[in-house]
Amino acid sequence: VAQDIINNVKLKCCGIKVLYKNKQGITMCGIVGYIGFRDAYPILIQGLKRLEYRGYDSAGVALINNEGVMNVYKEKGKVSNLEALTSQRDISGQIGIAHTRWATHGEPSAINAHPHVSQSGRLALVHNGIIENYSNLKILLEKEGYTFKSSTDTEVLVQLIEYMQKKYDKSLENATIMALRMVVGAYAIAVIDKNCPDKIVVARKSSPLVIGIGADHKEFFIASDALPIVEYTKQMVYLNDNEVALLKIGKKIEINNLNYEDITPEVKEVNISLESLEKGGFEHFMLKEIYDQPRCMADCMRGRLLLNEKRIVLSTINMHRERLMKAERFIIVACGTSWHAGLIGKQLIEQWANIPVEVEYASEFRYRNPVISPDDVVIAISQSGETADTLAAFQLAKENKAMCFGIVNVVGSSIARASDTGIYIHVGPEIGVASTKAFTGQVTVLTLFALALGHERGTISKEEYESTIEELGNIPEKIKSVLAKDEEIKDIARSLTYAENALYMGRGFNYPVALEGALKLKEISYIHAEGYPAAEMKHGPIALIDENMPVVFVATHHQLYKKIISNIEEVKARNGRIIAVVTEGDEAVKEIAEATIEVPSTLASLAPLLSAIPLQLIAYHVAVEKGLNVDQPRNLAKSVTVE
Ligand code: M6R
Repeated sequence: VAQDIINNVKLKCCGIKVLYKNKQGITMCGIVGYIGFRDAYPILIQGLKRLEYRGYDSAGVALINNEGVMNVYKEKGKVSNLEALTSQRDISGQIGIAHTRWATHGEPSAINAHPHVSQSGRLALVHNGIIENYSNLKILLEKEGYTFKSSTDTEVLVQLIEYMQKKYDKSLENATIMALRMVVGAYAIAVIDKNCPDKIVVARKSSPLVIGIGADHKEFFIASDALPIVEYTKQMVYLNDNEVALLKIGKKIEINNLNYEDITPEVKEVNISLESLEKGGFEHFMLKEIYDQPRCMADCMRGRLLLNEKRIVLSTINMHRERLMKAERFIIVACGTSWHAGLIGKQLIEQWANIPVEVEYASEFRYRNPVISPDDVVIAISQSGETADTLAAFQLAKENKAMCFGIVNVVGSSIARASDTGIYIHVGPEIGVASTKAFTGQVTVLTLFALALGHERGTISKEEYESTIEELGNIPEKIKSVLAKDEEIKDIARSLTYAENALYMGRGFNYPVALEGALKLKEISYIHAEGYPAAEMKHGPIALIDENMPVVFVATHHQLYKKIISNIEEVKARNGRIIAVVTEGDEAVKEIAEATIEVPSTLASLAPLLSAIPLQLIAYHVAVEKGLNVDQPRNLAKSVTVE
């Protein structure tokens, strides 16, 4: 049957012929698995907690105990609900798989939760992705007598594997390959078979999957990213698209592609400290990550910003000088917060390196016919390195032979691996769904890159290059002094708690900061907020202003300061409530505003690195005051691998 499948385009099976386009559409769930000599359950539950940022609609676990019985537990909602369900149940077993779900097909419920079990009860499977042709496969299987309990695409896949296993008398790994050859869509899967409790089969296409290898291959860990694995082993294999791996106790990993060809696993050493995955005494990850920023910036600049020598060293420029020098244009593709960082990057690169930069929403870019030339450099900015639209935009750039430059946080992520070159932001794992330290890390890297490029091209003066380097070195301490105002900011934030709407305004380098401040507020406090370039206000948004409308101005003391004061006056004249981020010692705005938050003086080009911090704290405190789930806001997930 599988031989009839041609490149995921044409499926002809059991008399039914269906045509598909191979488009990318992926979900964002988290999967974990373990096989070895320890109790699997605690590893799986802890792993799910580390991955809960990827989705928290439901959670489930399947374990095979020493008598060969497979126990499957699933519950709607968070991992803690699953834990409550499993207390007093048989959770023994040294092999198991688990899942935390962000629902796509089928409402969030225990029935639709993973793992899904095959008709005979022999196989259990967890899946992160979308099987696009699941309804047609379901029809085929129904004709063969299969029935379905859930409304998910995943249940179809586990039944299909069992069908292949039975009909063609195949091993679990070969049946999985046969089934996957029939699948159109995206997946990272892990499958266990209670008749073969010494193996787990995993596979990947367009959804991430990492395998951790224990000493002497006596145990294996699997997960959607390295976070659940790092406390057990640093030896990891990142599975590539269309690869299927067999993990068997005491044996080396065996990897095949969907054409049954052997692939040699590439083992990487991954270094993530355990403490970076904990809250470290803070109430929420988001707060910890906001407070992490001075250290993150220092880490991000270490070895790159040479303060004593007043120069910047970036290996990407050393290695790709010629290509970068002849770049005619940069195109930045990104989503959400990363897109905001891109808007700042555009201003920096144009100002210092004198190269035109376009900043594109990756989701729009990938679906039109953008003009991309081999002399373009396409920069993908992504914290997770897994955002589906950004990855697809990058792939489009690659097809058009542009240079693919990644600015990514997660080492070994899909975008990092798809890059020709790039710069890691090195801010450590960001767990809170609202991006904070990744934003300042991205802006820092873009600043270093723009300065270094400008210096190479001779488009920035020596004075500006050196004075900006010197001031960059001061920024971590200056961020600390903003953080020291947290109590003051918390008081100001209280006044926003009952607002239904808010506007954020900024100009120049602070305009993207206003967009970012508004995004932070809406995503975690559920208050409708919009960001604007302040001068755009009179072209429409000013009609919204009355005594109930809080307007947050980012009005630090830079070249457009006088202009933004006029914009603040315009709001004041219409009784709007003004909160402003200003430079220390500011007097003019203080006279007009209801409240001001001072940040230390710095260069205009570096202002976002300071002015973003109070806006992050405002959003955080409003959400806490409203009693909301700060780290896991509703409907969102950290890694948006859905288009
Ligand atoms: O991982 P990425 O940087 O590619 O993610 C992009 C956006 O999904 C992300 O920035 C999102 O907007 C954040 N939740 C914002 O806080």
